[in-house]
Amino acid sequence: MSFELVPVPRTAVIVVAAGSGQRLGAGVAKAFVGLDAHTVLRHALDGVFAAPTAQVIVVAPQDRVGDALTEARSAAPADRRDLVSVVAGGATRQESVAAGLHAVWPDVERVLVHDAARALTPPDVFARVIAALESGKDAVLPVLPVVDTVKRVAGDAVQEAVDRSELAAAQTPQGFSRVVLDAAYAGASRDHTDDAALVQDAGTAVWTVVGDERGFKITTPADLDRARALLGAATSRPVVPLPRVGMGTDVHAFGGDGELWLAGLQWPGEQSLQGHSDGDAVAHAIVDAVLAAAGLGDIGTHFGTDQPQYAGAHADVFLARTRQLVAAAGFAIGNVSVQVQARAPRFSPRRADAERVLSAALGAPVAVSATTTDGLGFTGAGEGVAAFAVAVVFPA
Ligand code: CTP
Ligand code: MG
Repeated sequence: MSFELVPVPRTAVIVVAAGSGQRLGAGVAKAFVGLDAHTVLRHALDGVFAAPTAQVIVVAPQDRVGDALTEARSAAPADRRDLVSVVAGGATRQESVAAGLHAVWPDVERVLVHDAARALTPPDVFARVIAALESGKDAVLPVLPVVDTVKRVAGDAVQEAVDRSELAAAQTPQGFSRVVLDAAYAGASRDHTDDAALVQDAGTAVWTVVGDERGFKITTPADLDRARALLGAATSRPVVPLPRVGMGTDVHAFGGDGELWLAGLQWPGEQSLQGHSDGDAVAHAIVDAVLAAAGLGDIGTHFGTDQPQYAGAHADVFLARTRQLVAAAGFAIGNVSVQVQARAPRFSPRRADAERVLSAALGAPVAVSATTTDGLGFTGAGEGVAAFAVAVVFPA
C-alpha cells in the first residue's frame, strides 16, 4: 500500500468574518448576507481557494461557527478540506485576528489576513502579496491610488487640501512574516483598524503591492448593490427567500367531558372530544403544520402533557404561542389550509366563523374545509375526528 503525503503549507490565510455588519444593517452578520446564490463569506473563500494553497482559518461570529464551517467545507476543493478550520471571533477586528492567529499551525511561516467583507478580491492579489513576502519583505499591503480629491477637515470646516499623490487606500489580504505578526499581536497595547498599522507601530517597515478595484470592502448597502451588480445579479431584484412548507395531522376520540371545542369554536349540545387540552384536533393539526414548516419540531416539543398551563387550553392559546415561536425563529406565516374529517358536527354553517377565529389567533389566513368519509373508517363510524393541515412559512 502506498499513500502520498500532502505537503503542509507554509502560508496561512486568516479570513476575518466575525463582524456584525452594523453599517450594512442587513439584520444578519455581514459574512452571511447573500450576494447571489452564495454568501459574502462563500465568495471570499472562493477567492482564497483559487489563490496558492494555504492553511485557511475562518474567524466567525460565536453563534455562526457551524454555518461558517459548512461554507468553508463546501468552498474548499476536495484535496484542501483538511486545511480548513473555523474559530470564534472577538468584539473587535483586532481580537478576531488574534483568535485566528492562535489557530495557525506551527510550521507556517507567512500569514495573510483577509477581510471576508472584501468578498470579490481576485486571487492574483493574494499571489502578489505572497510573492512579495517570498522576496524577503516582512509586511505587505495591497493598495489602490486615491482617486478623489482629499481634504483635511475640522467639523464642517475645510483646513487644507491633502496631496493625494502621497496617499494610498489600504486593502486586504495583508501579508506578514509569521514571527513579525505574532510579536506585534503579543505586544499590542491599543486597537488598530488593520494589521499593517499594528505591525508598523511595532517598528516593522510595511511595503505595498498593487491592489484591485474588485477588492473593495462591502460596508454599506450601496457597496452590496455594487457587489451584486459585478456578479451579474440584477440590483433591483432582491434574492428571493424560499418559502417552506409543513404538514400536520391530529386525531381525537369522542367521549370527553363537557362541551365540544373544535376549530377554535364551542359547539353546544355536541359530543365532546377526549384530550389533555380541549381535544381540538383542527387546532393541533395547524400547530404541527406550522412548527414543521419552520423546522421547530412538533406539538409535543412545545406543548407537552407535562406542561400544566395547556391542560384544558383552547385553540387561541396554542395558536398564539405557535405564532410567537415561529416569529422568534425568524419566520412569518404565509397561510394554512386545514381539512377536518368528521360525521358530526356539521361544519358548513360555522365554517366562516372557524376561519375568522383561527386566523385571528394565528395572525395569518387559515382556510377550513370539512368532509365526511361515506360512513367509512373511525370518522365515518362517528368514533372521533381527524384533521389534516398544510402550512407555508417564509423567512421574515
Ligand atoms: N471583523 C471581525 N470581528 C469583528 C469586527 C470585524 O472579524 N469584531 C471582520 C468583519 O467580519 C469584516 C472585517 O473584519 O470582514 C472588516 O470589518 P468591517 O467591514 O468593519 O465589518 P463589520 O465590523 O462587520 O461592519 P460594521 O463595522 O459596519 O459593523
Ligand atoms: Mg467594523
